[in-house]
Amino acid sequence: VMQFLSGVLGVKDWKVTYEKPHICALKGSSVTIPCSYQYPRGHRVNETFWTNERETNKEPEDLKKNSEYHNRVTYLGDVFENCTFRIENVGERDSATYWFRFVTDKVGGKWIGEPGVTLSVTVSPSGEILEGSSVTLTCNNKANPPVYRYTWFKNGAEISQSGSQKNYYTITNIRSEDSGKYRCVARNTHGTGTSELYSVDHYPYSPKNTLVSISPSGDILEGSSVTLTCNSKANPPVDTYTWFKNGAEISQRGSWQDYDIINITSEDTGRYYCNASNRYGTGTSTLYTVDVQYSPKNTSVSVSPPGDIVEGSSVTLTCNSKANPPVDTYIWFKNGAEISRRESCNSFW
Ligand SMILES: *[C@@H]1O[C@H](CO)[C@@H](O)[C@H](O)[C@H]1NC(C)=O
Ligand SMILES: *[C@@H]1O[C@H](CO)[C@@H](O)[C@H](O)[C@H]1NC(C)=O
Ligand SMILES: *[C@@H]1O[C@H](CO)[C@@H](O)[C@H](O)[C@H]1NC(C)=O
Ligand SMILES: *[C@@H]1O[C@H](CO)[C@@H](O)[C@H](O)[C@H]1NC(C)=O
Ligand SMILES: *[C@@H]1O[C@H](CO)[C@@H](O)[C@H](O)[C@H]1NC(C)=O
Repeated sequence: VMQFLSGVLGVKDWKVTYEKPHICALKGSSVTIPCSYQYPRGHRVNETFWTNERETNKEPEDLKKNSEYHNRVTYLGDVFENCTFRIENVGERDSATYWFRFVTDKVGGKWIGEPGVTLSVTVSPSGEILEGSSVTLTCNNKANPPVYRYTWFKNGAEISQSGSQKNYYTITNIRSEDSGKYRCVARNTHGTGTSELYSVDHYPYSPKNTLVSISPSGDILEGSSVTLTCNSKANPPVDTYTWFKNGAEISQRGSWQDYDIINITSEDTGRYYCNASNRYGTGTSTLYTVDVQYSPKNTSVSVSPPGDIVEGSSVTLTCNSKANPPVDTYIWFKNGAEISRRESCNSFW
């Protein structure tokens, strides 16, 4: 009844209306705080601003004059009835209560709108987004009549099957494939509203898919040169590589992605692996076996039993040799003439 009378008499109360008393925003997003205000007829508004200070006996500070805010805040309202306010790139420090303050040209014409708007800035999850964590994107909007359907898009393609009643979209177990630009479209009976793009991007993860490759491929012949390369996916990129041979660190080569073996010898045969690290962790590759092939070498003949050979006794001559792959044929010579050819048998008796 009072309101009706006020309306009839053209008298308005001092009033600030915050459409959304509580606003929850994701870190890094922009927040628009819808607001309207009124004051008695005959007043002219001289000054409008937003503040997050409320102390008695102290003039509230205009956020526009606060160095933490002045680049990020915009008064979208006017000097009549709209006091909408916007804060860009919100951070956890912006979680606070915000009040609209206006001053008119009449003595005592000052008003601050209670109870203010509380803004809570959430990070989902808290800290940096790590591989495997969950991220929730929220579609913030005001709509009247209310939104009946939200549609979510990633890089322009719809990802919410046939729309959703939910104003949030959760990416569980986030992987690098989930990087992209997301937006939501909210629809009510009057039309649609499209959100700004939100980038899920470049979140860090520790090295994964770490493996050793070799070049050139194929058989490794003694005297040739090969390069082992430690491949890994990581964000930020791997900053330290450590190489191991047969379990021991081969450190003298430093932390290079490539491990070069020049003029390879049989000594270089072994099982190699690498550790790839960034500041989020270490990835260990599987073992890579370097098998150096070489022709028979250090070939010698030994006699058994050793010692003087007595006429009428038996002796066995053995041909000793190192080779990879193993020797397959032994050929015996006497006084320069071939006397025997045996496969896989290195003894002659
Ligand atoms: C107040 O201003 C904002 C920004 O210009 C606008 O989006 C909004 O519709 C206005 N509100 C009203 C009730 O006119
Ligand atoms: C409001 O603005 C007018 C004109 O700019 C000025 O004369 C007047 O003193 C102001 N009133 C207050 C209360 O600041
Ligand atoms: C490779 O190593 C062998 C044995 O140590 C040596 O005789 C040869 O000169 C080396 N070749 C090159 C190209 O370094
Ligand atoms: C190599 O990485 C594994 C974890 O993947 C770790 O346990 C090991 O200590 C690392 N080795 C070195 C020498 O850093
Ligand atoms: C050749 O054999 C001798 C005697 O067994 C050994 O001392 C030497 O290290 C071997 N050389 C090579 C290259 O294997």
